[in-house]
Amino acid sequence: MSIHPSLLSADFANLQAEIERIPSADGLHVDVMDNHFVPNLTLGLPVVEAIRAVTPKLLDIHLMIEDPDRWAPAYAEAGAESVTFHVEAAKAPVRLARELRSAGAKAAMALKPATPIEPYEDLLNELDMVLVMTVEPGFGGQSFLDLCLPKIRRTRELIERRSRRGEPGRIVLQLDGGVSAETIERCAEAGADCFVAGSAVFGADDPDAMITALRESATAAAG
Ligand code: DX5
Ligand code: ZN
Repeated sequence: MSIHPSLLSADFANLQAEIERIPSADGLHVDVMDNHFVPNLTLGLPVVEAIRAVTPKLLDIHLMIEDPDRWAPAYAEAGAESVTFHVEAAKAPVRLARELRSAGAKAAMALKPATPIEPYEDLLNELDMVLVMTVEPGFGGQSFLDLCLPKIRRTRELIERRSRRGEPGRIVLQLDGGVSAETIERCAEAGADCFVAGSAVFGADDPDAMITALRESATAAAG
């Protein structure tokens, strides 16, 4: 069970200090938005490079942008360990996933709440992680969408079916949006094993203690 705090809810004027407040994080989730794929604009490659220079933590880049085919590989080349593109935006997701892997990153595919997983089952062998969005992407602090829970269960089942067939590699199932102490148990029960949390972590009095609490709840709920 891993917890990736989203820097979207951190103080953008003090990112290094914010990262130092969360030593228990298993990775740092960085939301790149272009004001086209989503109605919000955040940061891009220069800021990711600056973050890379000040932390050895795993960087989990979530690209909410048009044309990830063009822009995503540079994040892998900048040293991010994991790069997630939205399948709704990718023109050639197989080629893109292979490019990310050959640039040394884990390749991940994200789905918006209304995007089904089933059409992409055959892509799983090209991926290291699937991100199921549990809010409409674009903003932190939104309410968790319970309507995504059945898709999380179905995605877990596809991942397990694949490993029963003996396909190599482990695929992580990440959730992003509205994850908190109130919602993380049902997320873990549904089969997720990596959790992004922005407002729940950075809005807590003790962000690092919140990470530990979230991880413990998820582990207990998964049994
Ligand atoms: C939203 C972003 C999330 C966001 C989550 O589009 O992808 O990573 O930071 O924020 P919370 O955890 O507050 O819902
Ligand atoms: Zn995100």
